[in-house]
Formats: sequence, C-alpha cells, structure tokens
Amino acid sequence: MTTIEVGPKREEWRQLYPLFIGFVNPRPIALVSSLSRRGELNLAPYSFYNMVSAQPPVVMFAPALRPDGSPKDTLRNIRETGEFVIATVTADLARRAVDCAAAVAAEVSEFDFSGLTPEPALRVAAPLVRESLVNIECSLRQIVAFGEGPGAGNAVFGDVRVLHVEDSLLDARGRIDPRRLATVGRLGGRWYCTVQQPYELEIPDPERRG
Ligand SMILES: Cc1cc2nc3c(=O)[nH]c(=O)nc-3n(C[C@H](O)[C@H](O)[C@H](O)COP(=O)(O)O)c2cc1C
Repeated sequence: MTTIEVGPKREEWRQLYPLFIGFVNPRPIALVSSLSRRGELNLAPYSFYNMVSAQPPVVMFAPALRPDGSPKDTLRNIRETGEFVIATVTADLARRAVDCAAAVAAEVSEFDFSGLTPEPALRVAAPLVRESLVNIECSLRQIVAFGEGPGAGNAVFGDVRVLHVEDSLLDARGRIDPRRLATVGRLGGRWYCTVQQPYELEIPDPERRG
C-alpha cells in the first residue's frame, strides 16, 4: 500500500496529480470555446469539469496555471470577456478535441488547427462547436483561484444561459438516452474511454426492502 500524507512540501503535487487523474475518472471533457478581448478565437479541452448546481444551473471547469505560472488562454479570455461555450466531446470528436490541446500560438485558432467549425451562439460572443451534439452557452459567475504557482487550479463557474441539445439524443420523456450519446471520458495520461455499455441501477426504497 502506498500512503502519501500531504504536508507543506510544494513538490508533492507532482507525485499526487498523476495518481489522482488515474482514479478520479472517467472525467467528462468540456471543449471550451472563448474569445479574447481582441477577438482571438480559442478552443481547448478541460476534463476537470462538471455541473455543480441544478438551480441555478451552474457548470464548472478548472484550468491549472502553466508550468511558468501563467494562465492558459481559456482562463485569460474568460477573465477578459466573462463568457464561454462548452461543447460536449463524443467519440467522433475526441481526436479533434485532443488536437485542440496542442501548444499552438495564441493568434492561431484551435478551430482552424483541429478542423472543427465555429457557429454563432445565441447569447454569448464565443461560438458553439457545430460538430458537437450538445453545446452550453455560459456567463462567468465566479473564479476561485487555489494558488499562484504552477499547477494551481482555477475553478471557473459559469451560469448556463442557453443549452443546445440535438433532438435525436432525446427519448420520449425528453431525456438524453445514454445509448445515443457516445461521450468520451478522460482517464490518466493518454487514456480515454467511451460509454459503450451503459446499464441501469435503481436506488432502493428502504421501506420496500422490509
Ligand atoms: C482531454 C484533455 C483534458 C484536459 N483537461 C485539462 C484540465 O482539466 N485542466 C487543465 O488545466 N488542462 C487540461 N488539459 C490541458 C489543456 O487542454 C492544454 O493545456 C491546452 O493547451 C490549454 O489551452 P488554452 O491555453 O488554449 O486554454 C487537458 C488536455 C486534454 C487533451
């Protein structure tokens, strides 16, 4: 059994982080579209991502500071403009979504680099990803910074303004059928997984169990 107690040593995170991404998974992948104040278009994948409030509907993703302590383009853009779009990554988009993590220069759009298509959003200036079956338009609610050094996370909370869902995903009750949306999860390192065998489990009612 490997046991790691977290203390004041700043270097520990380099050992902890690869372990954590190996078991806090599969993580959904947000493909985040944003614009800089000067109108430069950016698209990048973030797997520290979830919905954190249903009412109000709030989503969160977390860009870490780069090894030199500077913010990633997505974080810088959202600080500047207060808006972003999250596209959902499915199996057919995974290759192009991961291409968007390449270290291209800030003036090169990852839309061009990956071959994905920007499409005008309804309520925010950042574009949707046309190829994605689900897109969420968001306004910045709050950023919580967990430090100033390399690897420090910044939880970006976004209020959901508009949700776009492809109709073919919906069942008769208007819910997304998991067999129709092949979401991709991020595991550790270069590993990913797809939702291939979804199955149902019911939460028991203790009174009926007797
Ligand atoms: C599938 C995937 C998920 C990622 N998730 C995160 C994440 O949650 N947080 C983070 O800081 N970087 C994450 N990265 C790395 C960023 O995508 C990468 O640093 C990217 O270049 C940032 O782009 P930007 O500077 O245009 O925002 C991920 C990379 C991949 C391929």
